[in-house]
Amino acid sequence: MLDRLQKLSKQFEAELGEAASQADILAVKAKYIGKKGEISSILKGMKDASPEEKKTVGKESNRLKQEMHKAISQALSEREKQEIEEQLRQNRQDISLTKSLLGQRHPAAYHPVTIVQREIEDIFTSMGFTILNGPHIEDDYHNFEALNIPETHPARDMQDTFWFSDMKHLLRTHTSPMQVRGMETHTAPFKFVCPGKVFRCEDTDASHEMVFHQLEGMMVGENISVANLIYFMKVLLAEIFGKEVEVRLRPGYFPFVEPGFELDIKCLICGGSGCSVCKQTGWVELLPCGMVHPRVLEYGQVDTDKYNGFAFGLGLDRLVMMRYGIDDIRYLHSGDLRFGQQFSEY
Ligand code: DAH
Repeated sequence: MLDRLQKLSKQFEAELGEAASQADILAVKAKYIGKKGEISSILKGMKDASPEEKKTVGKESNRLKQEMHKAISQALSEREKQEIEEQLRQNRQDISLTKSLLGQRHPAAYHPVTIVQREIEDIFTSMGFTILNGPHIEDDYHNFEALNIPETHPARDMQDTFWFSDMKHLLRTHTSPMQVRGMETHTAPFKFVCPGKVFRCEDTDASHEMVFHQLEGMMVGENISVANLIYFMKVLLAEIFGKEVEVRLRPGYFPFVEPGFELDIKCLICGGSGCSVCKQTGWVELLPCGMVHPRVLEYGQVDTDKYNGFAFGLGLDRLVMMRYGIDDIRYLHSGDLRFGQQFSEY
């Protein structure tokens, strides 16, 4: 019997050595130490053996069984390790930086639009305005209808709109819908500004982009006048440019203001002699504005007998371009690190 056990042990070792997969290993396990395995059958066949023999063979079988258990679990964990390594080898990704990239590391920098936007926010908060944020995806009501631009209004064609396929939602074409949203959440008197991205489906050139930035402002109170509007705009521009800039006010048409104005500043890129940014006119449209149309106030549930107000939609990108002397708006979204690095004002 002991001989048989010894033979079995050798046989086990050889078979386990050849077992390649997890299933093979488990099959070897069942064959030798399973309930109906070789060791069990040896023990079962000991019924008629002498007590002495039973004792030695029993002891030896138990020892062997334990040894086999150990070998099996070692083989299994070895196999698992190999599988993991194999997987890692197959999914290997080199996440290390190459030497050349390391050589030209780029320090982080704020985008010039962010820098200017934050400055303007500071100026307005110091004048008691709150700052609102609104959705890029708008509905017809907020982007057009409640701004006194009904469906048949020709002014809808003034802005080329990115519509969603349901034809009910759109990427906001301006930040003016925030006037409507602001009136929904505030009761007069109030004043707020709202910076953000706007989207238009139009051809790009040195002064036009499909995605650009505006900062909407609205002030509603008692007896607000055009003089108040001009005062706030002049303070804003003087703060931003750090000097008095030459401005001109001319009539402008926007359905949500009456009267409406275009506030232009003398082009700071060419000093007024004409360039691609000012389209050779010497002036840059920067601040369309006006007195809020009573219909817009009515949409916003504002009591028009008591309150009126002004609104403006500052073109943030143009302001950034004037401030830093950038002659093409397309640089702003170029993603060129050399461009971004020039503005690291933390
Ligand atoms: N929303 C207008 C545009 O994008 C700009 C504008 C004009 C905003 C007059 C105003 C305003 O608040 O009063 O063309």
